[in-house]
This record gives sequence, C-alpha cells and structure tokens, in this order.
Amino acid sequence: MKRILSGIQPTNTLNLGNYLGAIKNWVPMQKTHECFLMIADLHALTNPPESEVLRRNTREVAATYIACGIDPEYAAIFVQSHITPHAELSWLLSTITSMGWLNRMTQFKDKAGKDKEAANLGLYAYPVLMAADILLYQATHVPVGEDQKQHLELARDIAMAFNRKYGEFFTVPDPAILGEASRVMSLRDGSKKMSKSDPSDMSRINLTDDADTISSKIKKATSDSELLPDNLAALENRAEARNLINIYAALSDRSAESVVQEFAGQGFGKFKPALAELCVEKLSPISTRLHALMQDTAALDALLAKGAERARMVADKTLREAKQRMGLLLS
Ligand code: TYM
Repeated sequence: MKRILSGIQPTNTLNLGNYLGAIKNWVPMQKTHECFLMIADLHALTNPPESEVLRRNTREVAATYIACGIDPEYAAIFVQSHITPHAELSWLLSTITSMGWLNRMTQFKDKAGKDKEAANLGLYAYPVLMAADILLYQATHVPVGEDQKQHLELARDIAMAFNRKYGEFFTVPDPAILGEASRVMSLRDGSKKMSKSDPSDMSRINLTDDADTISSKIKKATSDSELLPDNLAALENRAEARNLINIYAALSDRSAESVVQEFAGQGFGKFKPALAELCVEKLSPISTRLHALMQDTAALDALLAKGAERARMVADKTLREAKQRMGLLLS
C-alpha cells in the first residue's frame, strides 16, 4: 500500500490555506493510503512560542485534523516530539546534507530576515528535520501545499544521497500538490500567501472563525472593480480575483475554469456573497466540531498516545536500519 506522511506546525490556529492546501487533500487518501499525520512541534520551536501556547496549539492541531474529517481509526495522528527517532535521524541525515543545499532554501532566507547571523541553527537545519520526518516512514507521497515544494525536493536529494552512499534503502518520496488551491493567497494582498503568522487577522480565515466573521472577511477581501471574464487565462494579472475563484473551486470540488464560467460577466458584488455563503457552509461545521473536541483534552491526549504507538513501530525500525548501514554499533 502507498504511504503518506505529512504535518503541520502548531503555530497559531490553522487557516483556510492549511485546509485547502493540505488537510482537505488528506481526507480521501485515508482509504487508499496508509496515513501518518504529524503535528510538527519540533519545527515550531524554530520560532519559539510561549510554552503554554505551544501545548495548547499542539492539541488544537490534532483536534483540527479530526474536525476536518481525518479519522484516527485509519490515520495515525501523532506529535513529532513523541517519536524521538525524528530528531535522531535528522542528525544522521545532516551529515550527508551539504551547506550549499541548505543555503538555497528560500524559506530560510525569508524567515531569517536581514540579520542572518542572529537566526537560530534550528531554522537553518529545519529542512533536514523535515526530510527525517518523511524518510522515517518510507513515505511514497507527501501531500502539501505549493510552498513546501522546495523542501520536498531537498528530502528527495537527501534520500538519494543516502542511497548512493549506504545502499538502496530510503523510499524517494513524491510530492502530492493537489487541488485548485494549493497556494491560497492573503485576502488583503494577492501577492502574499495566506499565513498563520500574518499580523493581520483579516488576511486569513481561521478554522475557528464563526459564520459572521467568515462572511465579513470574505466581503472585505481585496478585489477589483472589473467583471469576471469567461476564462481563467484572462485573470492572469488579477491575483486577488484569481485567488477568490480558486477558493470557491476548491471548496466546491470543482475546477476553477468551471467556476469562472459560471460567474462570467458578474462583479464581486455578486460573487463575494456566493463565496461567503459557500465558506460558511463548508467551514462552520469544522469550527463547531473543533470547539467541541477542544473541551476534552484527555480524549485528545489518549488519541495522540495511540497514534504515537503506531508511528513508533515504523520509525524505530527505519532508524535502526539506517544506523546499522551507517556503521553505528547497535545496542
Ligand atoms: P506549515 O505548518 O507552514 O503548513 C502546513 C501545510 O499547509 C500548507 N499551507 C498552504 N497551502 C496552501 N496555501 C497556503 N496559503 C498555505 N499555507 C500553508 C503547507 O504547504 C503545508 O502542507 N514544514 C511544514 C511542516 C512539516 C512537514 C513535514 C510537512 C514538517 N515536517 C513533513 C510535510 C512533511 C510547514 O511548515 O507547514
């Protein structure tokens, strides 16, 4: 059976970008793939949050997976730091990763900002830990949003470098960048991606937002005063319009082309209320379930312990064999 591994950092509440770029695509895969779905708390430490906030967010991400339709009976939902082989394999892989490869990572350049000397080592080594996450489970596919593409290419390069040096062992994972909204843009600025860390809450729809908030954010989203055309190609220079069409398409499981055709000749005065209604219809049930799940943290913790048990079985075995191939004396 094919196997997927994916994960989300528990930094802030998850948003529509995380849902459409990642979680929504995982749901149908539960029946066709063996699924390992992680909460990347070690990665979140690279931009250190308050300890209590990190603990709360970690449970909230687990609750969000379930609220969005991930079934813990099928998928192993677990916390990255519960499985110590992630950090250990990351070290092993760092010895075959060149600094040149890491220097090319655009996320580091963006997140480190101007003062690269002050950036922490974890932020720089972040993609190596991500490669360890994936390779530990011998994942065949990694379903993520478009922004993770470069990290996945690095994970593939690391797997191939290991296999060349120590013999064929790691599965070289394929990225699975799916759907019409693999890069959801900010509702305020069509040139920036929708992000958990954008200071403006109006730039995103959080999966905890209530119906009124969702509606008002869509209605206030930046758009333009032109009518919608009858084909997507004509939206090439209208980033905000294209983004709203993509969101509509992804939420309604249709192609962006068919959505633009349906609304051809209409302005945002007509399109935005339709989009707001669709968002509320699809997202309010998620936020209701999410709030309910967060009331019972003991149940969430129990479920994460079960997920960790399943993950650990696979991870321990892979780590042992990697160590053995690298010449470490096994205990
Ligand atoms: P993170 O936490 O930034 O995002 C989680 C997932 O959401 C997707 N995503 C988006 N998709 C579409 N539009 C957007 N605006 C948008 N914003 C975020 C991301 O592509 C991602 O799929 N490094 C990862 C976490 C991670 C991971 C892994 C993922 C750690 N280890 C191993 C896959 C495999 C990250 O920071 O995602």
